[in-house]
Amino acid sequence: PLKTLVKMLAVASVFATSFNVFAEPIEIKFSHVVAENTPKGQMALKFKELVEQRLPGEYKVSVFPNSQLFGDNNELAALLLNDVQFVAPSLSKFERYTKRLQVFDLPFLFNDMDAVNRFQQGEAGQTLLNSMTRKGIVGLGYLHNGLKQFSANTPLKNPSDANGLKFRVMASDVLAAQFDAVGAIPVKKPFSEVFTLLQTRAIDGQENTWSNTYSQKFYEVQSQITESNHGVLDYMVVTSDTFWKGLPADKRKIIKEALDESIALGNKIAAEKDNQDKQLILDSKRSQLVTLTPAERQKWVDVMKPVWAKFEEQIGKDVIEAAVAANK
Ligand code: LMR
Repeated sequence: PLKTLVKMLAVASVFATSFNVFAEPIEIKFSHVVAENTPKGQMALKFKELVEQRLPGEYKVSVFPNSQLFGDNNELAALLLNDVQFVAPSLSKFERYTKRLQVFDLPFLFNDMDAVNRFQQGEAGQTLLNSMTRKGIVGLGYLHNGLKQFSANTPLKNPSDANGLKFRVMASDVLAAQFDAVGAIPVKKPFSEVFTLLQTRAIDGQENTWSNTYSQKFYEVQSQITESNHGVLDYMVVTSDTFWKGLPADKRKIIKEALDESIALGNKIAAEKDNQDKQLILDSKRSQLVTLTPAERQKWVDVMKPVWAKFEEQIGKDVIEAAVAANK
């Protein structure tokens, strides 16, 4: 009987392994740098929910917010090493892998988020999703955050008000050039350091969306926010070619559908939060709203727009033209 028992156990174990009965689910890591109460934070959690609902026991998604696992300086390198399978950096952070996405950083390019959306969903925008495939990075979709505002401890009404001030920028040469254009000093720093840099006055200002300014509490250490809507801060959700192609086709399809649905939710939240978080900041009375007259805003356009020409060759004239055309 002992022999029979051993035999039975052996058969059972072969069965279990071949049919994956006791196997642990495969872990998909999704790392990002923002808080959970943001469009990207909520999108990542929705993705986790949908994947685990549709592929129960087979896949699990672990979400790491707030640069807990990887930050701006290493998340794309980690993706290529397969230490993380999904990241969604802002479009300003892919400069090392492609120059073409810098189109999104050109100041005063898009009139509003509808124009951004038309450009992303159009032919040129969809082609840009594949702009890093040769580097092993696959673009799976765009996710909105919103338009950026300038903040400082002094009211920025005219471009000359920014003269000599230090502004944190994301790691993008276009964004650096944008601040150079007004005589300011751009400082490239990872997102996780911005609050402390502002609080200790190591830098004077920054540019960001309402939801990031709210969720990171920048408004508590910046007394003035200029509603400039001068640029866009959106994301590309990316994975690595190795991971993506390694998935069985049927699972890949389910995961992509879950992602598309999560992005749709994230976009809805982005649109809502833009107003809500602005209002929460104003209600806090920690920071004052600086509004620009059309004539004042035009001055910023006039000094910053020459930046376009400097980057036209790198980005591609056709790409810039397609983006401009999306305004209509
Ligand atoms: C920033 O660095 O300011 C943003 O890109 C952070 C983010 O991911 O929204």
